[in-house]
Amino acid sequence: MKSILKAMALSLTSSIALATIIFFVIYKLATRSKSTKNSLPEPWRLPIIGHMHHLIGTIPHRGLMDLARKYGSLMHLQLGEVSAIVVSSPKAAKEIFTTYDITFGNRPETLSGEIIGYHNTDIVFAPYGEYWRQVRKICTLDLLSAKKVKSYQSLREEECWNLVQEIKASGSGRPVNLSENIFKLIAMIFCRAAFGKGIKEHKEFTENVKEMLRETGGLDVEDIFPSKKFLHHLSGKRARLTSIHKKLDNIINNVVAEHNVKTASKTNETLLDVLLRLKDSAEFQLTADNVKAIIVDMFTAGTDTSATTIEWAISELIKCPRAMEKVQAELRKALNGKEKIHEEDIKELSYLNLVIKETLRLHPPLPLLLRRECHQAVNLAGYDIPNKARLIFNVFAINRDPEYWKDAETFIPERFENSSTTIMGAEYEFLPFGAGRRMCPGSALGLANVQLPLANILYHFNWKLPNGASYDQIDMTERFGLTVVRQTELLLVPSF
Ligand code: HEM
Repeated sequence: MKSILKAMALSLTSSIALATIIFFVIYKLATRSKSTKNSLPEPWRLPIIGHMHHLIGTIPHRGLMDLARKYGSLMHLQLGEVSAIVVSSPKAAKEIFTTYDITFGNRPETLSGEIIGYHNTDIVFAPYGEYWRQVRKICTLDLLSAKKVKSYQSLREEECWNLVQEIKASGSGRPVNLSENIFKLIAMIFCRAAFGKGIKEHKEFTENVKEMLRETGGLDVEDIFPSKKFLHHLSGKRARLTSIHKKLDNIINNVVAEHNVKTASKTNETLLDVLLRLKDSAEFQLTADNVKAIIVDMFTAGTDTSATTIEWAISELIKCPRAMEKVQAELRKALNGKEKIHEEDIKELSYLNLVIKETLRLHPPLPLLLRRECHQAVNLAGYDIPNKARLIFNVFAINRDPEYWKDAETFIPERFENSSTTIMGAEYEFLPFGAGRRMCPGSALGLANVQLPLANILYHFNWKLPNGASYDQIDMTERFGLTVVRQTELLLVPSF
């Protein structure tokens, strides 16, 4: 009797398992990659989460690149409630940027935009429209113009020199945490450019900026279920972002309260001077919150992007001793024993610039750019795209497209020799700063903040991995966030 019951239980279990498998296979067949005329190709999906399971356990830009290689450089993904079009080739990017840039000029409403962006009144999160046009104009003409970037030259030089002195003081042969030092350096350059001086809350301010960048990766539960507000509370994200926002807001309030307008002449105005002057002018209608939103933008968009580029450049050079030797030889020949580096000394150094471009190709700091959203239904290359669909540009995949790049995965700065490519490829094959109307307005400042610190770090010191590790043992693992940074801090041993 016992054995009959056991056999029955077994057969019931197997029947349930079999039924589940059949149901699953039918479901998979019914919902897998559709290539009908009006819908983009897509992988098989599950109820509720859509295609999210394809990204579980992957670093999103790499997971998306693998999916695109199977399903196409223009594919559809259902990410929870969000319908997303993923663009993964130069050809598809070119078509969108040249024909549909305005249609996809909007940013989706997000929790980060609401809380950190002062209800989307900064530049990064602002919806496409008159307000965005106005603050973008302020950004390009008044805050980040070539003249303004140049006006910060002496403070960049001073802060880089301070870093060199600090490393020297810590002693030859002792490991230095370059990640920490580089972020501190860039944040200090920004603090002085924004406020004219270091601020007493500098450490708290930069730590909160960093924390905020970690919280705004773009594929968390609140990003894929934007309408399920209870999830934003349950996940703790709303509380965490609010706490970061309050701290940043308090600090900026203090800085503004202490700000003495009379000390600023128009030629050496800080970012805050400019914004407060424009706030009081009849031309613009900026509120106090708008000013704070733009200041937070400058820090969040400008610090990690440059810092991570410097870190990846050094990491790639450690991994490639040939390129390291070449870039150091170029610097040492040009500077010929000079102590302090001025920007004029390094402007024309071609290999240093090739190293920076190749680093931005392999490690674009924002590999998925910033999300865009269409403001109307559109027919894209024969496919019907619904209103509010999001656009994800996988610049990481574009910058490594084997159709455009030979040995795409290898660090070869020479590939940019004799190429006119500067911050954007003519065929949309190189997009570290994005493209179109929402392209980065801070590229000149960003590059200046990469070039001089990198030159100083490479010129004054030779570097190796700690504990006698060989150059190919360097850890290159990435950590995903709004900017993609090294998973582990870059610890290197200087000699001088
Ligand atoms: C190496 C340095 C930098 C890199 C690689 C970089 C990259 C980018 C990228 C990829 C975007 C998104 C473009 C898009 O969505 O199409 C962006 C947007 C933006 N960046 Fe940068 N950036 C850098 C430095 C800076 C700096 C120094 C600032 C200002 C201080 C800045 C301010 C902004 C702003 C305000 C936006 C939003 C533009 C808009 O939505 O209209 N960036 N950046």
